[in-house]
Amino acid sequence: MSVVLEGFGLVKRFGPTVALGGVGLALRAGEALAIMGPSGSGKSTLLHCLAGIMKPDAGEVRLLGERIDAMGERERSRLRRTRFGFVFQFGQLLPELPAEENVALPLMLGDVSRGDAVRRAREWFGPLGLGGMEGRRPGELSGGQAQRVAIARALVTRPAVIFADEPTGALDQATGHDTMGLLVDATKRNGASLVVVTHDPQVARWCDRVVEVRDGQILPGSQGAEPSPVPAGRPLSGETTGVLPEVAG
Ligand SMILES: Nc1ncnc2c1ncn2[C@@H]1O[C@H](COP(=O)(O)OP(=O)(O)OP(=O)(O)O)[C@@H](O)[C@H]1O
Ligand SMILES: [Mg+2]
Repeated sequence: MSVVLEGFGLVKRFGPTVALGGVGLALRAGEALAIMGPSGSGKSTLLHCLAGIMKPDAGEVRLLGERIDAMGERERSRLRRTRFGFVFQFGQLLPELPAEENVALPLMLGDVSRGDAVRRAREWFGPLGLGGMEGRRPGELSGGQAQRVAIARALVTRPAVIFADEPTGALDQATGHDTMGLLVDATKRNGASLVVVTHDPQVARWCDRVVEVRDGQILPGSQGAEPSPVPAGRPLSGETTGVLPEVAG
C-alpha cells in the first residue's frame, strides 16, 4: 500500500527535554494508526511534527514525497487547511456558531461561498448520526455529539490525513468508543488516513496498527513499521494524489 505521510529521524527538544529522539514513522494510504504511550512520552509532539504544526529540530516530514517540515509557516498553514483535518480532545467548536456553520468553516476559509459551504456541511450530519442538529450551537449538544460535529468539520474538506489527539479523552467510555468507531469508519469511508493519539487500549480494535511511544522513541516491537531509510523524492502532483475519492454531491 502506498505511503501518504512519512517522518524520518524526527528530533524535537524543549530546553533540556528531548521530546522526540529520532523517530521514523510511515503512514499508508487509508490506514488508521493509533499512537499510544504514557503521559509525557512525546505523542502530541510527534503528531504536531507530522501535521506541520511544529517544526522538528532535525529530521524530515514528507506528504506524498514532498517535504513539509522545510516549508514556511504560511505554506504549512495552507497545507494544514487543505490536506489535513484535525480533531482535538475538546472539539474546539466556535460556541456562537450553529453546528452546520462550524462544519462549513474550513470550506469558507478556503473561499467556498457561505451557501455552498453550509450545503456541503449539512451532508455530513445524517451519516454521522447528527440529523436534525444542524442548527444547534455547541452548548446545546452532548459531548459525543459535539465531537461528531468536530469529526464532520475535519472531514468536510476531504483531507488526505486526519490527526486526532485524544479525541475521546473528555467523553465517558461508552460514548468514547462509539465516537472512536465513527471517527475511524468515517475516515476510511472517505479514503483518508488517520493518526490518532489515545490512552485507550481498546482503540486497537478500530485501528489497523498501534505504535507505542516511550521517552521520545517508538518502542521496538510495536507495529511502527520504519519507513525506508532514505526519503524518496516523489513530487506532489497538485491535488491529484489518488488518495481522495471524487467529491460526492
Ligand atoms: N511547549 C513545550 N515546552 C516545554 N516542554 C514541552 C513542550 N511541549 C512538550 N514538552 C515536553 O515534551 C515531552 C513530550 O510532551 P508531549 O506533549 O509530546 O507528551 P504526550 O505524550 O502527548 O503526553 P500526554 O499524554 O500527557 O498528552 C514532555 O516532557 C513535555 O513536558
Ligand atoms: Mg499529548
